[in-house]
Amino acid sequence: MLVRLTVNGEEREADVWAGASLLFMLREHLGLPGSKNACEQGECGSCSVWMDGELVCSCLVLAAQAEGLEVRTVEDLAHDGALHPVQQAFVDAGAVQCGFCTPGLIVAVHDLLARHPSPADPEIREALAGNLCRCTGYEKILEAVRMASRS
Ligand code: FES
Ligand code: FES
Repeated sequence: MLVRLTVNGEEREADVWAGASLLFMLREHLGLPGSKNACEQGECGSCSVWMDGELVCSCLVLAAQAEGLEVRTVEDLAHDGALHPVQQAFVDAGAVQCGFCTPGLIVAVHDLLARHPSPADPEIREALAGNLCRCTGYEKILEAVRMASRS
């Protein structure tokens, strides 16, 4: 089936299986591998994207559900080779190891800071409760969010 949508400000289309997820379409049809497939069950947040401004786990959304909508992915954050301040804060805080969780966390942190520019630690923890990291430990991730909120 043909799905037409806007991705990162561009009109795109893909011919996908009716059961394909939005994550699969982004990665395998539209050449956007930034959103990661870690659990494919809505448990880890590695596949987080915005759909019409709402944060969603793209592994749980059918590609067909995005028909006519605006999707924004982590690829839309860095521009002209310059990292987004949230991305830079993750690098500076040492909050990246294998990096598999990082795109989802970056998207979730960007979403949090857009709503709460100076979140307290409990707000950060709550906002990132759906994002699992298997390697870094959450203290460096918290520090990255604090750094980003100050930038
Ligand atoms: S891959 Fe979607 S929540 Fe884990
Ligand atoms: S840095 Fe490896 S899962 Fe988070």
